[in-house]
Amino acid sequence: MRIDAYFTVAEVDPTSIGDATVVVIDVVRATTTIIEALANGARAIYPTSTTEEAVKLAASLGREDTLLCGERKAHKIEGFDLGNSPLEFSAEVVHDKKLVMSTTNATRALTAGQGATRILPCAFTNLRAVAAAVSVDEWLVVICAGQGDQFGLDDALCAGHLVQRIMKAEGGDVAYQLNDAAQAARALAGFRKPTRKFLSATAGGAALVELGLGDDLDICADVDRHDVVAEMSDQAIIRSGE
Ligand code: MLT
Repeated sequence: MRIDAYFTVAEVDPTSIGDATVVVIDVVRATTTIIEALANGARAIYPTSTTEEAVKLAASLGREDTLLCGERKAHKIEGFDLGNSPLEFSAEVVHDKKLVMSTTNATRALTAGQGATRILPCAFTNLRAVAAAVSVDEWLVVICAGQGDQFGLDDALCAGHLVQRIMKAEGGDVAYQLNDAAQAARALAGFRKPTRKFLSATAGGAALVELGLGDDLDICADVDRHDVVAEMSDQAIIRSGE
């Protein structure tokens, strides 16, 4: 199995990953929130790049059962129903709803993966489920959303734990070919576990703490909280098997 990790979206050439399974990671907070929403019964999530696109799409999907969600600089977008805090996406709020979601970095990472055979959002909260879902694939591309064009330690740690889980699950029978970023991420995972404290020291986590949103990090660090695999196809992210 070949595993290529990318620590920033800028490194990804979307035209060269057609045959791969792509995993997109944005621990703080978009993929954590996406998994939380689907685990709590949201029907589908539609990522959009701009707020204007989000508003248009929500109108065409039907506002009665569609929520507008997203953030800019971690704050809820003005006029939207929800921000990007996983705590907001409870079953009471999102069950049976369609969610149109515009976030700063994750949408870009999901778009970079478009054209690949499969695209799966991944967070610590669904790590075991994703590892099991991709472990027999021949080629895995792991795209870390990062912070703009910069490395994000939270995403790199999650990528490393994913690589570790996949390699452990297959026990020694499979030959692995890891690019340098995948090797570095795996090495990091060997001596660091995700905790609220660890995430608070990353750029993304520290920004949330500063805004008084530090409690989100408890969920972001909650490994295997949900047995949920999600896939993106036709612009929508839905739970696999639905
Ligand atoms: C993003 O997509 O940029 C993030 O999820 C930002 C955030 O934490 O809200």
